[in-house]
Amino acid sequence: MARILVVHGPNLNLLGERQPEIYGRQTLEEINQSLLALAAAEGVEVEFFQSNHEGAIIDRLHQARNVVDAVVINPGALGHYSYALRDAIASLSIPVVEVHLSNLHAREEFRHRLVLSPVCRGQVMGFGPYSYLLGLRAAIHLIREGAR
Ligand code: DQA
Repeated sequence: MARILVVHGPNLNLLGERQPEIYGRQTLEEINQSLLALAAAEGVEVEFFQSNHEGAIIDRLHQARNVVDAVVINPGALGHYSYALRDAIASLSIPVVEVHLSNLHAREEFRHRLVLSPVCRGQVMGFGPYSYLLGLRAAIHLIREGAR
C-alpha cells in the first residue's frame, strides 16, 4: 500500500484557536481525521508529523526518504525563508506537494516569497483545510502516475 507522510510545520498545532479569521476553526486533529478518511477511501496509508522545529522536520524528511512514496507539507512560515528545508526537500527523490491554508498572494508581502516552491512538485493554497485534501489527492495522483 502506498504511504504518504503529511508534515505540519510551526504553529499549526494551534489551528482552531490561532487567528481563526485567517486559518478557520478546524483543529489539526480534525484536519488529520479528514485526511485519514480520504486515505482510507483511496486505499493509501497516511502518517502525520507536526513540529515547531526546523531541524526536527528535516530529520523526519530524512527518515522518510526511502520509506514513504510522497510527502504533503504545510511548512508554515518556514516556507518563506528556510533554505535548509529547501535543501532537504531537494534531496528527496519522491514527490513533495506544498500546501497552505491561506492564499499567500493575498496577504503580507513577506508571505509572497516561497522558497520551497521551486523544489516541490506543486502547490495548493487558499482553500483552508480543503487545501490539505487537494494536496493529498495530488500526491496520490503522482504516486499512481509514477507507478504506471
Ligand atoms: C500558512 C501560511 C504561512 O505564511 C504561515 O506562517 C502559517 C500558515 C498557511 O497554511 O496558510 O503558519 O502556511
